[in-house]
Amino acid sequence: MNYKIALLPGDGIGPEVIEQAVKVLEVTGEAAGHCFSFTEGLVGAVAIDRTGNPFPDETLAICRSADAILFGAIGHPRYDNDPSAKVRPEQGLLRMRSELGLYANVRPVKSFPALAGMSPLKEETVAGTDIVMIRELTGGIYFGKPRGRSEDGLTAYDTCTYSRYEIERVVHLGCRYAMQRRKKVTVIDKANVLATSRLWRETAKKIAGDYPELEMDFMFVDNAAMQLIRNPSVFDVIVTENMFGDILSDEASVITGSIGMLPSASIGLSASLYEPIHGSFPQAAGKNIANPVGTILSAAMMLELSFGLAKEAGWIVRAVEEAVNEGVVTSDLDAGNPHSTSEVGEHIRGLVKRLSDNG
Ligand code: IPM
Ligand code: MG
Repeated sequence: MNYKIALLPGDGIGPEVIEQAVKVLEVTGEAAGHCFSFTEGLVGAVAIDRTGNPFPDETLAICRSADAILFGAIGHPRYDNDPSAKVRPEQGLLRMRSELGLYANVRPVKSFPALAGMSPLKEETVAGTDIVMIRELTGGIYFGKPRGRSEDGLTAYDTCTYSRYEIERVVHLGCRYAMQRRKKVTVIDKANVLATSRLWRETAKKIAGDYPELEMDFMFVDNAAMQLIRNPSVFDVIVTENMFGDILSDEASVITGSIGMLPSASIGLSASLYEPIHGSFPQAAGKNIANPVGTILSAAMMLELSFGLAKEAGWIVRAVEEAVNEGVVTSDLDAGNPHSTSEVGEHIRGLVKRLSDNG
C-alpha cells in the first residue's frame, strides 16, 4: 500500500528527531512492502520567519491531503519572554488542532522496566504504571468565546464551553480504548464547581450504559493530580477536558522519568497527528543530542492507529526496547555513556530491519 504522510518538523529539535523517525519508517516500509511518501510543511516559529504565519494555508493543504501527520515540536524562546508578540508559534498549534478537527490527544504512559530507576517517584510506586491519558483537544476554555479584556483593560475573561457532542465523542474513544485494556475509565472533572464538568459527568454516565463490561469512575481534578503521583497504577484509561488534560498530562509524563521516550496521537476527524510529547528543547537544537525515541514511537502509533499496521508497529516498539536494554540511548537516559540522536536512530533502524527479517 501507499501511504501519504505529512511531515511537520517545526522548531528546535523537531527536525532532528523527525529525521530519525523517517529513517525508521522507510526501513519498515521496505520490509513490509509498503510505500510511505513524505511531504514536508512549515509550522511554528520557522513558519513565522518564512511566511509570517505559524500555520500557513499551504501546510493546512498538505495535512488535509495526507493519510496521517508526523509532527516534531513547536516553540521558540524569542516568543516565550515577549507577551506582547502578536503572532506566536502556539497559535499555529491551536489553529492546526481546530482546522484538522484533532479532537482527542492520546498519551500512553508506561514505564520501561530498564528505566524504572529514572523516575522521580519511588520505584515501587511507579512499578506497573500503564495509563492511557485522553485529553479533549478542541473545546473548553482553549477555544470558548467570548474571551478578551474589558474596555478599561482592568478585567480579562476566558469562557469554558462544552457541548454534549464534544464530550460524547471523546468519552466514547476512552471507552473503546479501555475495552481493549483493563476495562476501567476514570473521568476527571471539577463537577463540584463547574457547570461544564457537570455536563461531562452526566454525559459520561449515560455513555457508560453502552459498555456494560466497563467500570467507569469519576474523580475531581485536584484529587486526581494527587493520586497520579501517589498511586499511578490505579488508573487505566483517563478521559478529561482540554485544560485539565494539559496540566495532568505533563504531570503524568514525568512519572516514568523518561519524557523523551513518550509518544502521542491526536485523533482527527479525518487524518490524525502523531508527535512526541516533549517540546522544542531549543538549548539542544542542532547538537545531535536530543532523544529521538518519542518521535520514533509516535511513528509506530501512526502505523497502528492510522494505517492498521500493528505488526510493523510492533517491530518498532521491540526495536526501541532492545536499544534501551543495550544502553544505546541519548544523554538524558545515560549521561555517562551517551549516544547521539542519529546513532540512536541508526541503531533502531538496524534493529527494525533485523526484527522484520525474522518476521
Ligand atoms: C501542549 C502544549 C500546548 C497546549 C501549548 C503549547 C499551547 O502545552 O500541547 O500540551 O497547552 O495545549
Ligand atoms: Mg501542555
